[in-house]
Amino acid sequence: MHDAVKFRCSERFSMFSLAVLVPWLPCLVQVFSQPIQQPFSVRPSSPKLHGRFLHITDMHPDPHYIAGASESSACHRKKPRKEKARSGYYGTPFGDCDSPLRLTNLTLDFLDKNWASEIDFVVWTGDNARHDNDRKIPRTPKEIFDLNSMLAREMENIFIKKGIPVVPSLGNNDIWPHNILPAGPNDIIDHFSSIWSAFVPLSSYQVFRRGAYYAVEVISGEVAVISLNTMYFYDSNKAVGGCEYREPDDPGNLEFDWLEVQLKVFRQRGMQVWITGHVPPSPGNYFPECYVRYVELSLRFQDTILGHLFGHMNNDHFFLLEAGDLEFPSKSDLAPASDTVESEGHDGLYDSLINDFGDLPKKGKTDHDNYGVVNISPSVVPNPYLPSFRIYTYNITNNRNDVKKKKRKHGHRRGAGDKVKLCKKKKYKNSWRCKLDKAWHSDPDAPSRMNTLWSPLGYAQYYLPEDRLLNRTKKPKFKLEYLTHRLGALHPGDVERRDEFRYPIPLKQLPKSIREGNGTSTSSKFAPYGMEDLTIPSWVGLARRLGDPSRKKLRRRFKRYMYMGEKS
Ligand SMILES: *[C@@H]1O[C@H](CO)[C@@H](O)[C@H](O)[C@H]1NC(C)=O
Ligand SMILES: *[C@@H]1O[C@H](CO)[C@@H](O)[C@H](O)[C@H]1NC(C)=O
Ligand SMILES: *[C@@H]1O[C@H](CO)[C@@H](O)[C@H](O)[C@H]1NC(C)=O
Ligand SMILES: *[C@@H]1O[C@H](CO)[C@@H](O)[C@H](O)[C@H]1NC(C)=O
Repeated sequence: MHDAVKFRCSERFSMFSLAVLVPWLPCLVQVFSQPIQQPFSVRPSSPKLHGRFLHITDMHPDPHYIAGASESSACHRKKPRKEKARSGYYGTPFGDCDSPLRLTNLTLDFLDKNWASEIDFVVWTGDNARHDNDRKIPRTPKEIFDLNSMLAREMENIFIKKGIPVVPSLGNNDIWPHNILPAGPNDIIDHFSSIWSAFVPLSSYQVFRRGAYYAVEVISGEVAVISLNTMYFYDSNKAVGGCEYREPDDPGNLEFDWLEVQLKVFRQRGMQVWITGHVPPSPGNYFPECYVRYVELSLRFQDTILGHLFGHMNNDHFFLLEAGDLEFPSKSDLAPASDTVESEGHDGLYDSLINDFGDLPKKGKTDHDNYGVVNISPSVVPNPYLPSFRIYTYNITNNRNDVKKKKRKHGHRRGAGDKVKLCKKKKYKNSWRCKLDKAWHSDPDAPSRMNTLWSPLGYAQYYLPEDRLLNRTKKPKFKLEYLTHRLGALHPGDVERRDEFRYPIPLKQLPKSIREGNGTSTSSKFAPYGMEDLTIPSWVGLARRLGDPSRKKLRRRFKRYMYMGEKS
């Protein structure tokens, strides 16, 4: 079934030696942008894939957390006594506090016991230190590195030791001071090279030291995960320039140059990639020029990118990257972005997403070349909602009958509207929108567009309900919050094909009502979206349904998941 999976060591090996021989040539960028993956994965040569991976994010362990403390002290002290809100034993639901180590331990133990033998790789998108929210106990670089090391060792023990690649990315709270990271090489990045030595391929180290980004072939020669350092795109980082066209050496521009080469090379090798990182690529979070470059690369390499996985926002949602973002915004588009704050109050983000979805073209009028989908996983830290993680399922069946002669479209140049005119003006001439004119690689048969080998099929989201966090007499267990799959897909087809079809989610990880169902029931509160797969057309379809004001029930569900049931 997965004979597609094989090693291609020789190629990587030669790149690796090249990297060692000429590390200081001026052509550094070109050399290291080559496919410098090494035989890193610890898998046996013919791994049995499960077709699942874990996305975990924003753990925020806090060694100063105590149970029964006041929330106003960041759950660090019992005072003031008259304050009603008190921290819980396993965490403080819907609160302002970080995670007690008891919670991060419990979460990782749960993953070890329930999921480690069911998944193929782990995407881990940062923020592994507490927030800087207590003036009496300021964070220190040492504490930040220690917390990161602690979790890195635990991830290593649970996953790497079992041969499961883990791909971490840097969060805005993993650095000191928070949000600020200058161009590498620097001390902070050097510390992470050592903390992450079990995760970052050895051959990537030269590039890693420069910018803390790298790629891992999680399925050798087939699927890679790219870990971006989003600190160079994040507009709160005052130590970088924000990808201005005229500053080719800005660390954000250098990172995009690297990403572009990675995507080209992976594409040439016929591979597929997940793009991952901490701060999501949104106009509210990224410097405007970094955002333009991100959108352009996402669309240009749409046939190579399986999806975009991010954290940081601590709430559950998705949004679309659109070709329209590469046009110049009209005045009416310039409403203030409302997705800037990690834990902003209710409704701002929800409203802006629903508005965007409402503006989508009608079914049949949609050119799917024009979209990318960004998935934001909620956090482990119950700040401001509840602890959670996601299990993605993806297609591992290479159905040979379906393999067509690849005739990849050799793209079209984009740029309608006023662009040609505006780009003659001095004000716009040197902006990325006026410089990006490469043909796009779009393909309706690519795994991001059509359910085929490596396509994402769905995710199941697990969480710790509020009462389970508070009751210290009972060690809490994660339970299913919802999944995107169609109910019928959870019970694989007829017996003969059962082996091949396998269960997308192991039955024992499903609630009784679904587990014991015979696959014929058509609705469940756990399966609100009934998505066939997680390809771009499926997401655009869900977005369109959410954009329809008459879909009140669906909107309520979406909003409830976004804020994990918290009353607004
Ligand atoms: C959690 O704590 C227990 C008890 O101290 C320990 O045995 C276990 O290894 C820890 N798990 C993780 C993932 O750190
Ligand atoms: C996976 O893709 C193949 C085509 O390569 C398709 O026939 C099959 O139905 C897909 N599997 C699932 C579980 O959707
Ligand atoms: C906590 O859990 C125990 C064991 O299930 C149960 O007996 C007790 O009533 C629970 N306490 C609260 C406050 O829910
Ligand atoms: C499946 O379960 C439903 C409801 O429990 C029942 O009505 C139906 O007859 C069952 N179908 C089969 C094939 O067992």
